[in-house]
Amino acid sequence: MARHLITSALPYINGIKHLGNMVGSMLPADVYSRYLRQRGHDVLYICATDEHGTPAELAAKAAGQSVDAFCAEQHDAQKAIYDGFGLAFDHFGRSSSPENVELTQHFARKLHENGFIEERAIRQVYSNADERFLPDRYIVGTCPHCGYDKARGDQCENCTRVLDPTDLIDARSAISGSSDLEVRETKHLFLLQSKLQGEVEKFIDETGEEWPTLASSIARKWLTEGLHDRAITRDLDWGVPVPADVWPDLAAEGKVFYVWFDAPIEYIGSTKEWADVDPENRDWKSWWYEADDVRYTEFMAKDNVPFHSVMFPATQLGTREPWKKVDFLKAFNWLNYYGGKFSTSQRRGIFTDAALELLPADYWRYFLIANAPESDDTSFTWELFSSSVNKDLADTLGNFVNRVLSFSRKRFGDEVPAGAEAGEAEAKLGEDIARLLAEYEGHMEALQFRKAAASLRALWSTGNSYLEEKAPWLEIKTDKDAAALTLRTAMNLIHLYSVISEPFIPSSAKAMRGAFALDGDTALWITPDEARSLSAVPAGTPFTVPPVLFAKITEDDLTSYKDRFGGEE
Ligand code: MF3
Ligand code: ZN
Repeated sequence: MARHLITSALPYINGIKHLGNMVGSMLPADVYSRYLRQRGHDVLYICATDEHGTPAELAAKAAGQSVDAFCAEQHDAQKAIYDGFGLAFDHFGRSSSPENVELTQHFARKLHENGFIEERAIRQVYSNADERFLPDRYIVGTCPHCGYDKARGDQCENCTRVLDPTDLIDARSAISGSSDLEVRETKHLFLLQSKLQGEVEKFIDETGEEWPTLASSIARKWLTEGLHDRAITRDLDWGVPVPADVWPDLAAEGKVFYVWFDAPIEYIGSTKEWADVDPENRDWKSWWYEADDVRYTEFMAKDNVPFHSVMFPATQLGTREPWKKVDFLKAFNWLNYYGGKFSTSQRRGIFTDAALELLPADYWRYFLIANAPESDDTSFTWELFSSSVNKDLADTLGNFVNRVLSFSRKRFGDEVPAGAEAGEAEAKLGEDIARLLAEYEGHMEALQFRKAAASLRALWSTGNSYLEEKAPWLEIKTDKDAAALTLRTAMNLIHLYSVISEPFIPSSAKAMRGAFALDGDTALWITPDEARSLSAVPAGTPFTVPPVLFAKITEDDLTSYKDRFGGEE
């Protein structure tokens, strides 16, 4: 069994995330982690809030709080929501932790020792109205590449290009809106990525082949354009301080590292936070340092790919230390809301807190993964959401479970009935199940989530077809044993579904498995070969009928959701 390290892009601290954020990072990482755990692998799933940089400062300012109080509060708020969604992190840390400060400074020292960091005087945008420099998101303007008029100083949200504040056309301060800006000289640390181009290229050649095209093509595009040296410090009050022993002048001026320098290091920092909780039994280093036996998978949306495929590996390589680098980079396109953007700043779309107040997590988990924007952008619409909840979850899965268990209890009492020996129909069902389950596994291994969801759906449907064909409600009139066999087989399907649906809909899966009083039952995976015989739940096993698993979304609900959240643009 392998060791799997899994990280999802760290959500910014600046506010509650929308569903689009979650489907491109945390949710698929959780589904994959759960699957690997069920298969018996040693899995470490790490995430954290990304707390530094201008987004945090700007949001704290808007909330009228100090940055550290704001971050502490928002971290807990985000954590509570992710718990509600059933995201089973091993640790959900904070990039402002002492662990990360220490590691970030360590990385900088090593890069400096190896000649990959240089101090340079640069011209930065200074706002006379605000009496401060305006790094990154403190400045907005028109993107010189695509013309988008709300581009930020660090990156254009529209075309995903990384920018420098001085690139922007018609620039203005994000704090005061003032365009009374000037360019002043100030000293900053630069990461000499240009010197690492060849090594990063080699890394991508060796590793990127296996990645989804979305990820490898972004990495290639980046390398073709050539790696530029980048400023990795900022004039901000909040961040990881530049170590004074190496750069006394810059430290005295209060410079901190750029958020995109310390954030990926927090993957390691958060692992250290995890270990520091129980140092006797947890070894963070074995996951990250000389960890050749570990397979490391990263999850993120496409705008994060340049940082993870090129810049973070460059940072790691430049330390000349054997840090674990990404093996598989799973990237996602955008989830839109009725064809337009979800937007945190404009509060357009559905936010994770509101989603949980409305409906149970499993409804969202299933819908989002089944419609994950893997090969293209996809759109959330309430119509699509309710039809997929009603058809797949309520009709196909939930109804099957309830029908079978209620009918059997009514006719045969509270134990799985014995009845006849399995016959031809059961043999054929077993073959179908084994084939579909092998497909499902294949898609999960390949991290093809939409395809995996389709296979899971097909597995659920197979139960319905079997039930329709055998029609135990008719069999019971002429041949009680035949009806008992059908129900016993269907109950075995329910148990199988509870195991294999766990990564997608963990709490419903638990309710399904909990229907059977099976000794020593676990959610451990069932292989296609084991599944074929459909005999894990023997006759005589006591069971209960769980409450309705999935309530249907009615026309009235649909109308009220659309009124409340807005439908078409
Ligand atoms: N906070 C960033 C975003 O939401 C992602 C940071 S990922 C990390 O786009 F690796 F840098 F942490
Ligand atoms: Zn642009």
